[in-house]
Amino acid sequence: MLNLHRRKILLGMAGIITTSSSTLAGTLLTTPRQTAGPFYPPVLPLDDDNDLTRVNGRSGQARGIISDLSGRIVDINGRPLPGLRIEIWQCDVNGRYRHPAENASRDIDPDFQGHGFSVTDALGRYRFRTIRPEKYPGRTPHIHVAVFPPGETPFVTQLYVKDDPRNAEDFLFQSIPLERQHLLLAEFKPARPSAPELEARFDIILARNDGTPQQG
Ligand SMILES: [Fe+2]
Repeated sequence: MLNLHRRKILLGMAGIITTSSSTLAGTLLTTPRQTAGPFYPPVLPLDDDNDLTRVNGRSGQARGIISDLSGRIVDINGRPLPGLRIEIWQCDVNGRYRHPAENASRDIDPDFQGHGFSVTDALGRYRFRTIRPEKYPGRTPHIHVAVFPPGETPFVTQLYVKDDPRNAEDFLFQSIPLERQHLLLAEFKPARPSAPELEARFDIILARNDGTPQQG
């Protein structure tokens, strides 16, 4: 496990990398990298689990549309990548990140954790309980995602909501080549008929340093 300081440095490095990949015969397209943005928490919260809708010591639930976010992390041959730490961070229903540089004029939702982590299981699966991403001034709704393969530069990207019309005007989403934009989209749909909660699936395809070709 990388310590926090090391992770912050690596996140900074990853933030300036953008990936352009090409299709390789018989392999999957890798998920595009994106910048980490300025709001990665400088200090991770003590309650840092994979349920962002509850905060230790509080009885309330995060405001917003509760959503079950899950997926798999695989290599370009579709092989599961177990034991990988995956983190997400996002703003709360009021558009407020958990970061000291954030705009204090927006009310904070004290029941939203803001950041969480999970570790992929033997099948490369991960899961978070969070809220459907909310708008942030100047941005379309998004969730920041980082994966930490041991000994490698963290993989950093952003997840967007499929069919959200604000994606069309988002400079970061539109920086992705059209034919690769679907790789960063997750559909948030009702978990059950007439249920208020949503579920979304977001798979991540990583190039590997173990002999599989790098796509960029
Ligand atoms: Fe952001």
